[in-house]
Amino acid sequence: MRVVSGIQPTGGLHLGNLLGAILRWVRMQDEAECLFFLADLHALTIDVDPAKLRANVREMAAALIASGIDPAKSTLFAQSAVPAHPELAWILNCTARMGWLNRMTQFKEKSGKSREGASVGLFTYPVLQAADVLVYQATHVPVGEDQKQHIELARDIALKFNNDFDVELFIPPEPFIGGGTAARVMSLRDGSAKMSKSDPSEQSRIHLTDSDDEIAQKIRKAKTDPEPLPEDPDQLEQRPEAKNLVGIMAAMTGETPAAVLQRFTGQGFGMFKPALADATIALLEPLRKRLIELRQDEAALDAILAAGAEKASALAAPTLAEAYRAVGLRQ
Ligand code: TYM
Repeated sequence: MRVVSGIQPTGGLHLGNLLGAILRWVRMQDEAECLFFLADLHALTIDVDPAKLRANVREMAAALIASGIDPAKSTLFAQSAVPAHPELAWILNCTARMGWLNRMTQFKEKSGKSREGASVGLFTYPVLQAADVLVYQATHVPVGEDQKQHIELARDIALKFNNDFDVELFIPPEPFIGGGTAARVMSLRDGSAKMSKSDPSEQSRIHLTDSDDEIAQKIRKAKTDPEPLPEDPDQLEQRPEAKNLVGIMAAMTGETPAAVLQRFTGQGFGMFKPALADATIALLEPLRKRLIELRQDEAALDAILAAGAEKASALAAPTLAEAYRAVGLRQ
């Protein structure tokens, strides 16, 4: 079992990233060989601010370590420091089909109305993501629900490449999506939109860097409805904001939504929100304190990333060499 996953170093880590992916990565470290990376090449596909990107790579590395990614157990690195990723991506660009990429919902969302004005990189983004996992022969890719389609595409690319060149090179990876409510954490302002770094409203998400007061205030102002909480989770289906807050509580405490509702049946959000704020602060506060310490030692972070990149490059090299050989190059 080999686990590979990445996160874009754009904006800060938010509660959706943590519950949907990072805390699951942390748990997998003791069970499997793990590689985690900062997808900084992916971050180039939309507007780039070079100075910010440089700082964000370190900041995200510190946030991952603060959340429990242990560089002594997992290989942690920046994608751009391992050229095997974009090299394999080019080869796979020639395997992937336009029609497959045309179906990617994330491209449609991110390119918005100006499809013609979107970067070519944004269009082939999922192919680089396929290279990220295939180059390490990953078996499991722990991600939130929103990345499922990209990992399924990586499977299709792996199978087509193996078939086209009559090799057994790539392992079709499994999207490994958490059960329960953590897989898709929604915006605090709109229960039908996912919590996202790109949402212009700061009120829509909780960051790892938010103070206790900010966390409490964002939860207090989170959109809800005036109804009391029901006993049966099915009765939340028509109440997306209420469903989301109950789901967040469940994901944080490890309960089922039904168990959360049992504690709050008949109560309104005036009671529920302070409890949710307390649980969120209890989860985030120690992580935030570690982050503040870790970000002070830039040299130590750079050294961790450099050591990770060296290890990752060595792991990627044989598969990349095989891929070149399979297509008739560098024999
Ligand atoms: P990114 O940076 O948007 O998100 C990082 C991880 O957090 C998960 N996530 C969520 N989970 C639950 N609820 C949410 N609201 C939420 N928002 C984000 C994402 O599913 C992801 O697991 N394309 C990827 C980065 C990437 C990657 C890869 C991932 C590049 N190469 C290879 C896996 C394997 C992305 O933009 O994730």
